[in-house]
Amino acid sequence: MNQILERIAKNAAALGTKHPDVNTMDNDLHYGRGHGGSWVDSFWVGMLYLAYAYSGDSTYLTYADGYQPFYRLRIKDTDAVCEAHGFMKLDHDTGFLFTLSQVARFKLTGDREARDMALRAADILAARFHEKGSFIRAWDTWKWDTNPAFIREKKGKTIIDSLMNLPLLMWAFGETNDSRYGDIAVRHADTVLRYMVRADGSTCHTFNFDPDTGEPIGEKTGQGYADDSCWSRGQSWAVYGFALLYAYTGEKRYQDAFLRVADYFWDHLTTVKVPVWDFAVLTDDTAPYKPWDSSAGCIAACGMLEMAAHLGTDGARYRARAAAILDHTTRLCATLGIAGAEPILLHGCGGPAYRREDPSRIKPGICDTPLLFGDYFYTEALMRMEKPDMVRFW
Ligand code: GLY
Repeated sequence: MNQILERIAKNAAALGTKHPDVNTMDNDLHYGRGHGGSWVDSFWVGMLYLAYAYSGDSTYLTYADGYQPFYRLRIKDTDAVCEAHGFMKLDHDTGFLFTLSQVARFKLTGDREARDMALRAADILAARFHEKGSFIRAWDTWKWDTNPAFIREKKGKTIIDSLMNLPLLMWAFGETNDSRYGDIAVRHADTVLRYMVRADGSTCHTFNFDPDTGEPIGEKTGQGYADDSCWSRGQSWAVYGFALLYAYTGEKRYQDAFLRVADYFWDHLTTVKVPVWDFAVLTDDTAPYKPWDSSAGCIAACGMLEMAAHLGTDGARYRARAAAILDHTTRLCATLGIAGAEPILLHGCGGPAYRREDPSRIKPGICDTPLLFGDYFYTEALMRMEKPDMVRFW
C-alpha cells in the first residue's frame, strides 16, 4: 500500500489538473496528459479520494480539489459545452463519472456542491430509462456513427456495465427519499437479470430491445469475442454490480445472481488467477492469442470482498478468491518495481482483441495495456482487503 500511495502522490504532482491518458502513453509508461471528456475520467480522481480515505493525508484531497472546475463544466452537458471542450455527452456511464468524483467527495467532505452535482447526474441517468422495455439505455448516437441500423439498434440497447451505474441511483434514493431513483435501478437490474444472465451464470455484453415496443430481441457483443461469449470484464461488472445491489436492497435474488456470476468467473480462471479477456477463447483452438484483462480480475475481487461481508462464515470463500486474484495480479501485472512508471497495472484489455468470425484481424493497441479502471479497482480492492470498513464510494 505504501508503494501505491507513493505512486499516486507522484502521479498527482506530475499531472497537476490534467487527466491521465493511456491512449497517448509513451514507451516509458508515462501517461499522456489529457483534457478528459470520456467515460474513464473519474477513475483517477477516485484514486485520489481512495488515497485520502485510506491514509487521512489531506494532500490527496487538495489534488482532487483541482478537478472540481472540470466536473462543474462536465455536468452542464450541453451540446455547446461538449463541443467546445471535446466531451462526450453524458450517457449511462454518468454513474461511473459522478460516483467516484462527486459522491465520493460528498461522503468524505460533506461538500454540498458535490452532492448537488451527483444528484443532477442521477437525474441525467434516470432520464435514460426506457419505460416500455424497463431498461436504462446505454449508448447515444456518436458523431462518427454512419450506419443507420446501428443508430437504431442503440436506441434499444442496454449493456452489462450498467450495473455499476446503478449505485448512483441507489445513493440518490437514500439521499432524497425519492423512490423514482430506486424504482428505476431495481427495474433495470431485474431486466438485466432476466435477459443478460444466462442459465450457466455467464453474461452477455449487450442486449437489444425493439426501441419502439421494448420487446426483447437478443444478445450482442461489443467488446467481447462473440455474441454468445462471455467478456470477462462484463462478467466482473456483474459480479460487483449484483453485490452492490444486494448491499443496497437486501433482496435475495441479487445475492443469488452474485453467487452465479461470481462462481462462473472463478471457475473460468486457470491456474493463473488473472482472467483472459473473454472466457470463450479459453476453449477455442482457433483463437490466435489469449490476452489477459487484469482490470476484470480486480473489479471481480472488489465484488467478492463486498459480498463476503454479507455472507457470514460463507464469505471466507469469496474473500480467499479475491485474495488469490489480487496476489496473482500483483505478481504478474503490477509495475511497482518499474522506476518512473505511472500506471500501476499492466495487461489490461480495453476492447475486443478480435472476433470469432475474423480471428486474424487482431486490433493493435487494444490489449496488453494499462487501464485507468484497472488501477482504480486494484487500489480499491487492496485497501478493502486491509480495511473492510473503509467508506465505500459506490
Ligand atoms: N464500461 C466500458 C468498459 O468496461 O470498457
